Amino acid sequence: MTETYKDTYFRVFSLNSNRPLAEELAEEIGVSLGEAEITRFEDGEIRINIEESIRGSDIYLVQSTNHPSNEYLMELLIMTDALRRASAKTINAVIPYYGYARQDRKERPRESITAKLVANMLATAGVDRVVTLDLHSPQIQGFFDIPVDHLSATALLANHLLNHQLADHQTVVVSPDHAGVSRVREMATLLDAPIAIIDKRSSEFDEKADLRVIGDVKGKTCVLFDDLIDTGDTMVQACRTLKKAGATDVYACATHPVLSGNAMEKLEQSGLKKVIITNTIDLSHKKSNRMIEQISVAGLLGDALKRIHEHKSVKPLFDKAYVGTLEKTEQEKKASDL
Ligand code: R5P
Repeated sequence: MTETYKDTYFRVFSLNSNRPLAEELAEEIGVSLGEAEITRFEDGEIRINIEESIRGSDIYLVQSTNHPSNEYLMELLIMTDALRRASAKTINAVIPYYGYARQDRKERPRESITAKLVANMLATAGVDRVVTLDLHSPQIQGFFDIPVDHLSATALLANHLLNHQLADHQTVVVSPDHAGVSRVREMATLLDAPIAIIDKRSSEFDEKADLRVIGDVKGKTCVLFDDLIDTGDTMVQACRTLKKAGATDVYACATHPVLSGNAMEKLEQSGLKKVIITNTIDLSHKKSNRMIEQISVAGLLGDALKRIHEHKSVKPLFDKAYVGTLEKTEQEKKASDL
């Protein structure tokens, strides 16, 4: 645990989606989680009671909106309303995984833009700021008219790959589709490695599609990099395409382990060597899987929350050398004053 965080008006609460991460985050900061009782009426309606005074406090409320997304989103909205009515000074929604983000534009006529709808709902409920990680598309920040601190786990993942000798500057970082190229470029810059792209033209999964690779992967180790893994189909198909193109070892790396249905089994049978993800979504209820390596974003979020609370820039958290806590290197100490 780092030094205890002294400001008594700084309070961290957790809802139900990712209590292990919230506990780790509170420990990083040196505070205990606030007390709130979350119960259900017989018909399933959510009822929340905050069990301590939070009058005048800056609240950091941790909740990912993964499956069951509707439940977890409603918990977040209802808790925000309760906090506002209990006279919180500010309500900062810490949403490690921002669900409903894939519908960020109308892909077909007469569709909803849920990423915007959820942004509106949060602001209406009373959220003053959102702290989140690796949004499906960075433009979603603009769907909010309140501040959004959009953090990234890319440096943490890159450092993990380097420190565990899973990647070096000869590794090819691969985007599983055209939409993810900028994300992959950022990872490749951190690894000082080249990129390649799977030429996937449709967002619909087609098991039989024969995809091409743009870039040279023959005889190379490849790291597939994406924002999330849901059914696993994208990674499985991309791995098969890379192997067909002559890649040797293929790793899958992503920030958000959505991992719906039998995704874990599919990944296990795919020929991927390892899957490296973070803990923005709680996997503790899933069967452990030896090919999954999960790294924690608690240090990154802890540093971010302290800096936000002290009105300091969060820019050092995007530094290439950032390894999960700012207390580690001299270089970061200097950068922290920027
Ligand atoms: C797509 O735009 C996303 O970045 C992911 O590639 C996709 O959502 C992954 O989904 P799945 O694992 O179901 O293929």
